[in-house]
Amino acid sequence: METLISLVNKLQRACTVLGDHGEESALPTLWDSLPAIAVVGGQSSGKSSVLESVVGKDFLPRGSGIVTRRPLVLQLHRIDEGREYAEFLHLPKKKFTDFALVRKEISDETDRETGRTKQVSTVPIHLSIYSPNVVNLTLIDLPGLTKVAVDGQPESIVADIENMVRSFIEKPNCIILAISPANQDLATSDAIKISREVDPKGERTFGVLTKIDLMDKGTDAVDILEGKSYRLQFPWISVVNRSQADINKSVDMIAARRREREYFSSSPEYKHLAHRMGSEHLGTMLSKHLEQVIKSRIPGIQSLISKTIIELEAEFSRLGKPIAADSGGKMYAIMEICRVFDQIYKEHLDGVRPGGEKI
Ligand code: GDP
Ligand code: NA
Ligand code: MG
Repeated sequence: METLISLVNKLQRACTVLGDHGEESALPTLWDSLPAIAVVGGQSSGKSSVLESVVGKDFLPRGSGIVTRRPLVLQLHRIDEGREYAEFLHLPKKKFTDFALVRKEISDETDRETGRTKQVSTVPIHLSIYSPNVVNLTLIDLPGLTKVAVDGQPESIVADIENMVRSFIEKPNCIILAISPANQDLATSDAIKISREVDPKGERTFGVLTKIDLMDKGTDAVDILEGKSYRLQFPWISVVNRSQADINKSVDMIAARRREREYFSSSPEYKHLAHRMGSEHLGTMLSKHLEQVIKSRIPGIQSLISKTIIELEAEFSRLGKPIAADSGGKMYAIMEICRVFDQIYKEHLDGVRPGGEKI
């Protein structure tokens, strides 16, 4: 199964490299049909922090106010061994091994598009991380939903952000991490509101409760976490991310994880739920779910790929030869990936009995 997820990652990347940004081509459809996980929620609810925890790396700009101003499409690739590194689509030949520089490049690349303003842009930044310590996942960090425009922002920004977020999460293949801070009333959660709009049955929404450590004394989130306040198909998961003070003091991820585990296992209210709380559990749940989704979609993806190969071949013969070396090379690359995928698909089918159980 691992290979299959990894191939899906490659396919997504191939589609991106091919530059299908709204052009008329069969490829956007292919891209749209592959699963990805997006974080949504109000500004400063902890979206970027949650993504960092799932990845187990410090690399995202975080903080109060509007920090994430462009969508970030993040692909995690598991490698068997070797040193981990990151690569941006806009800097194809540069390998980043220092994740502080990754964070800086995300900020710089955001500013290149929007200037050093509080404006947002819908143009995504694409980042890949290769590491022995990640699971194969595609994650999308999004700007936070807001209620009012602040200095330098156009009045339309509230609706602009909402529309951008919706455009990512309305796709049926998008798994939604709906981030709500525990120190605010769930009834006011922007995450729940917008995810319910696009996924009314909660079939692809995971409720994540952040800032549980910042709740008022005398209150707790037990009812929410036990599914008694707002029921979702999947059980609620709470995480404890690093506070701003931790970020300022550069508390590292390992220490943060340890503290998070201790928080749940030692708290009288949450002890009985500790086994299904925390960032690590969230990561495991997500990759399991993603595997299931991909498995259930294999026939669909397969038919789309065969269609794409046929269409690509038609395009080749229509263009005639010689074609531009660059675009031709990319097209061959994606066709090659499609063929490999095809192969894996057949192997997978061969290994599965008609009833669906594995031999
Ligand atoms: P985003 O705007 O939704 O991406 O939120 P960020 O991840 O940038 O976090 C916003 C602020 O909230 C940062 O200062 C974080 O340190 C802080 N924060 C996020 N999650 C938690 C949490 O679980 N506990 C505490 N104490 N602070 C958190
Ligand atoms: Na923020
Ligand atoms: Mg953010």
